[in-house]
Amino acid sequence: MRGGGLLLAAALLALALAGCKRQDMYTQNRVQTWDRSRFFADGLGMRAPVPGTVARESPPPTAPPTVIDAALLARGHQRFDIFCAPCHGRAGDGHGMIVERGFPGPTSFAASPLREAPAARFYAAMTKGYGEMAPFADRIDPPDRWAIVAYIRALQRSQNTVVASLPPADRARLEALK
Ligand code: HEC
Repeated sequence: MRGGGLLLAAALLALALAGCKRQDMYTQNRVQTWDRSRFFADGLGMRAPVPGTVARESPPPTAPPTVIDAALLARGHQRFDIFCAPCHGRAGDGHGMIVERGFPGPTSFAASPLREAPAARFYAAMTKGYGEMAPFADRIDPPDRWAIVAYIRALQRSQNTVVASLPPADRARLEALK
């Protein structure tokens, strides 16, 4: 009986302490919406998001870029190597490092059906995720998603082009690599 009473008291104490903790967090010093702040030079407590912040709510899909140039491809290349290559491989063949260690392997971008797929399918996979693949909408903003799609197109072409169909200058450069 006595043991039971002690246990009850301990339980109540634990509850009370847990309650205190919550109150401490709840009543801590913080800046409320519209409050002044002496910390920032402009005196405002509310701050604008830092450049490059991606909205948590997915923004409506944007139109694909009208100009596809070397700068866009370079950006897409860099973003692809960071976000996609770990699984899809740097060549988009589906043999990324994470797959080599056991994650389910995606199919190659350069083979059917993805070779013929419209650009919107790649954009949608990044925005919403696809099967085992998580969405990237909170990490890659819409212009960068399109830059990645453009770069995937370049990867697909690089693996589906007949050497004889290249312009002579490009063909010479390629053959010099052998
Ligand atoms: C953690 C590993 C992983 C990463 C990182 C990843 N993917 Fe995937 N992706 C997969 C897997 C696995 C599948 C196949 C999913 C399935 O079939 O269930 C897939 C499928 C796809 C597909 C096929 C969708 C379709 O409609 O058939 C596209 C396109 C794609 N990924 C694009 C990307 C792009 C672009 C990135 C980089 C922004 C990326 N993935 C990053 C694992 C990944």
